[in-house]
Amino acid sequence: MTDKQVIFTQQVRLPAIGQGTWYMGENTSRRRDEVAALQAGLDLGLRLIDTAEMYADGAAEKIVGEALNGRRDEAFLVSKVYPWNAGGQKAIAACEGSLRRLKTDYLDLYLLHWMGDYSFEETIEVMETLIGQGKIRRWGVSNLDYDEMQALWQVAGGRQCATNQVLYHLASRGIEYDLLPWCQQQQMPVMAYSPLAQAGRLRSGLLTHSVINDIARAHDATAAQILLAWVIRQPGVIAIPKAASVAHVEQNAAALEITLSTDELRLLDQAWPAPAGKTVLDMA
Ligand SMILES: NC(=O)c1ccc[n+]([C@@H]2O[C@H](COP(=O)([O-])OP(=O)(O)OC[C@H]3O[C@@H](n4cnc5c(N)ncnc54)[C@H](OP(=O)(O)O)[C@@H]3O)[C@@H](O)[C@H]2O)c1
Repeated sequence: MTDKQVIFTQQVRLPAIGQGTWYMGENTSRRRDEVAALQAGLDLGLRLIDTAEMYADGAAEKIVGEALNGRRDEAFLVSKVYPWNAGGQKAIAACEGSLRRLKTDYLDLYLLHWMGDYSFEETIEVMETLIGQGKIRRWGVSNLDYDEMQALWQVAGGRQCATNQVLYHLASRGIEYDLLPWCQQQQMPVMAYSPLAQAGRLRSGLLTHSVINDIARAHDATAAQILLAWVIRQPGVIAIPKAASVAHVEQNAAALEITLSTDELRLLDQAWPAPAGKTVLDMA
């Protein structure tokens, strides 16, 4: 077990790399590879699997359900509710739909995918109902910026929020200005999505950039592994790369063992500086 872990609770400590599933389930000819990739990730200890009712209209959840057949307990399973389903009976029905597709009777974590029409009060109320019904273990949010987290913190029950899942990679560093330090202060894990820069700023060319590839060579690693090692270089951040091949999953798991030196971090900072001021939260 790697020492790079993220602590959700004293009982729930997960390796700082998990597995994403966006774009899985879109093409039936890839199904077998996607299931195999997720299972390989579990074999390697990448326990957190992130999905959503949105992904491929529920088909990504079905892939995850297939991958978890007979080994549900090994995973820390995260799904997300559409904002327009995030209150009242709609949320109960959406969660039940996810559970059906995932072939499980509980989620470890259920996230509000992004902010929508329901108030925080309404969403928190139904999240607590779902916990009471045993359908979810905990809840969190996604794509909320610093000010929105401050507002959530003022609402009764808001501090039960277990995570904020946001876009974060070397070329999209806006959260370092205020959101990330604040979450770290609250000891609330941040889930970094698109850690391989599938979305976000300046994403094209990151994997082929010479600064990253020079560092990769020094570690006998790939550029993708350096991007992941960079995202998880600090406490309380879990990267959730999506990989649809066993080879990619193996590389991603091995990135847990890469520690970037101070000099390497400085070179990366020079090429992709930390934010000097507030920027709008990047989203996919
Ligand atoms: N909350 C939100 O609003 C939100 C938004 C976006 C994403 N997410 C979550 O975050 C996850 C990750 O983000 P993402 O899917 O946008 O992008 P990502 O993880 O940054 O990038 C995925 C891409 O990287 C490739 N890849 C994976 N491992 C690789 C490796 N070792 N070497 C080279 N390429 C590699 C994948 O190819 P293959 O598929 O061919 O392996 C895929 O094309 C999503 O799947 C989803 O679960 C959440």
